[in-house]
Amino acid sequence: MIIVMVEMAMQDKMILEDQESKINELIGKMTLEEKVGQLTQIVPSLYGAFEEIITKLVEGEISYPEFQAMEKNYHKDEIREGILGSMGGVTGAEISNDLQKIAIEESRLGIPMLFGLDVIHGYKTIFPIPLAEACSWDLDLIEKTAEIAAKEASAAGIHWTYAPMVDITRDPRWGRIAEGAGEDTYLGSMIGAARVKGFQGEDLSESHRILACAKHFAAYGGAVGGRDYNTVDMSLQTLHEVYLPPFEAAAKAGVGTFMSALNDLNGIPCTVNRYLLTDVLREQLGFKGFVVSDANSIAEVVVHGESVDRKEASKKALLAGLEMDMSHGTYQQDLPEQIKNGDIPTDVLDEAVRRVLRVKFHLGLFDNPYRTNKELEEKTLLAPEHVEVAREMAQRSIVLLKNEDNILPLKKNHKKIAVVGPLADNQKEMFGTWAITGNPEEVVTVLSGIQSAVDKDTEIVYAKGCEVLGNENMDFEGAVQLANESDVIIAVVGENADMSGEASSRMDLNLPGRQEDLLKALHQTGKPVVVVLINGRPLTIPWAAENVSAIVEAWQLGIQSGNAIADVLFGDYNPSGKLVATFPYSVGQVPIYYNHPKTGRPAGKIKFTSKYIDGPSEPLYPFGFGLSYTTFEYENLLISSSEVSKEGKVKVNIDVINSGDRTGEEIVQLYISDVVASRVRPVKELKGFKKVALQPGETKTVSFEIEIKNLGFFNEAMDYIIEPGLFKVFVGPNSKEGLEGEFSLV
Ligand code: BGC
Repeated sequence: MIIVMVEMAMQDKMILEDQESKINELIGKMTLEEKVGQLTQIVPSLYGAFEEIITKLVEGEISYPEFQAMEKNYHKDEIREGILGSMGGVTGAEISNDLQKIAIEESRLGIPMLFGLDVIHGYKTIFPIPLAEACSWDLDLIEKTAEIAAKEASAAGIHWTYAPMVDITRDPRWGRIAEGAGEDTYLGSMIGAARVKGFQGEDLSESHRILACAKHFAAYGGAVGGRDYNTVDMSLQTLHEVYLPPFEAAAKAGVGTFMSALNDLNGIPCTVNRYLLTDVLREQLGFKGFVVSDANSIAEVVVHGESVDRKEASKKALLAGLEMDMSHGTYQQDLPEQIKNGDIPTDVLDEAVRRVLRVKFHLGLFDNPYRTNKELEEKTLLAPEHVEVAREMAQRSIVLLKNEDNILPLKKNHKKIAVVGPLADNQKEMFGTWAITGNPEEVVTVLSGIQSAVDKDTEIVYAKGCEVLGNENMDFEGAVQLANESDVIIAVVGENADMSGEASSRMDLNLPGRQEDLLKALHQTGKPVVVVLINGRPLTIPWAAENVSAIVEAWQLGIQSGNAIADVLFGDYNPSGKLVATFPYSVGQVPIYYNHPKTGRPAGKIKFTSKYIDGPSEPLYPFGFGLSYTTFEYENLLISSSEVSKEGKVKVNIDVINSGDRTGEEIVQLYISDVVASRVRPVKELKGFKKVALQPGETKTVSFEIEIKNLGFFNEAMDYIIEPGLFKVFVGPNSKEGLEGEFSLV
């Protein structure tokens, strides 16, 4: 056994040495322009001369087919010249192979192209948005959906996805909350790592794998006011304790690339932030891959006012540790001269090229540049087994927020059910953000999901009632009339897909348009109202929470939306999701998050405490919250020892009982609080979770092991320390409820 392992290690070493010598040989042969080409990625719609072509198209000087031909020729010439190493937005096996063929057969050195795309929650089989998937807390299934996304994208000629987004955010105004795993660092780290594994697998050279990209480095989710691209100002302790660990987890999981963020961090744009890109990323996290800029972000350093021109910005970016320029050709235009005149050392350029070429080697592109073909593409996209996983993931992403008098699950044999609302019979909006390659026609609407779930004698009637936004097409009367004739009303309301995601920050988190008025009109009928929410962020829904019978938080669930929602509504699936972002009562409470630092005056009855005078200080629904059709009880919290050392571990056991009458799954959560420390610590922090399935009446003992080394923090001097003292342990169904115990660190 040992001999075999030693032989394998030697073999790996030889492969690596061989690869490094090939890379050095290539670099030795490359011209300056070819080197910079490896650091350049073109995204057609944003790239230099392409803007001229697009202007001609817009002004009617050329036709669309002419435009397409010019676009393709344009890139082909650059590939042929060997001055372009990567392209974004190329999709389809045939076109990617055509372009690759030019790189391999017609360019001087035959270096393969790298094709990237935002494959964020599926390629053709569109899965729930990442925020929704995170609510499943199901790492295996999250890994699985990333793996399927990789399978489909690679079959369509893509080598690289700009995902996962591992930005923590505590601000639901920020539209990009939809793209991440919510507000918690521990959970976000686990999910980020699972996604990296799903995309990349064990061996990137397997042709059904794609390169992942941890983005946006760093602290983009901390944008002031939740306004996209806005400035970020935070202590180094918060940066390292809250925002960086998911990036560290992605690096540990072997992520091949990082993307720098568009924001500045404490005054330095991340694109040129040497502290982040070199000190933290290379030196502390030991990252070996390459960093790509966000779209156009090198040029935007000038707009930030941090550099006088693109030349200075591109020099600073390269010296800071940013290898590839996305979108604007800034490196291509501005680096060569600065290298020639010695302003930037050639070594720095060569090292950047080396990092990019290494990744191309890891992907196996030098040996197998054409990783797909038309036939493979056709049979892979939307394969039935992928669609099945989409349904399962969608079921598990749903969070049941309210279920008064156990109105849910609904009977399948109601006489008449009214399905109402602007999102009930809609395909497109079910995708949410970043589903550019998906086909809305593949989406099962909520209406059709319900129609196929009920008994054949049940009548389903439908009214739109109003639009998501604005006052047009209002028909409350028609909706109310149908509601009056029905046994129960299912109201499907929320946000349009483009109301979350990039550049979609909101200053108001209420149900948009007249949708809440529609709910009020339906409620007036006296019939039970079940609200299904379709949205990309937490919303402020205190009226609904108080008045309607049930609330099903369904997010944007992708192609199987309607089936998964019907599975939950009619009890074919017992909901098990739990919130990964706090739901506020009012936007004025934002940022509101469960693991906030302790104040000297916690909210209480007396006036002079940390609270609002015009509303609650508690959230509407806390982090970790979610109901089931059964009930769970927690008993017998046992902590292995009352005293433990810094190097030690604490075992925590708890009995979880299914006290209801249905089989169900519970996400058991463990939180820790450091009672006294030399810096103010959070009231509690998630440090473990387990998902358990229980039959009615069944009890299971759920065990956790907490490693004390993970309970430290950064002190004033930015040293990571673990201090002795009392720690509280909370285990329960969410961040507010549960049993409490303690141990001391000695
Ligand atoms: C976004 C990135 C994305 C890139 C490429 C940018 O605007 O911030 O998240 O990967 O575009 O599409």
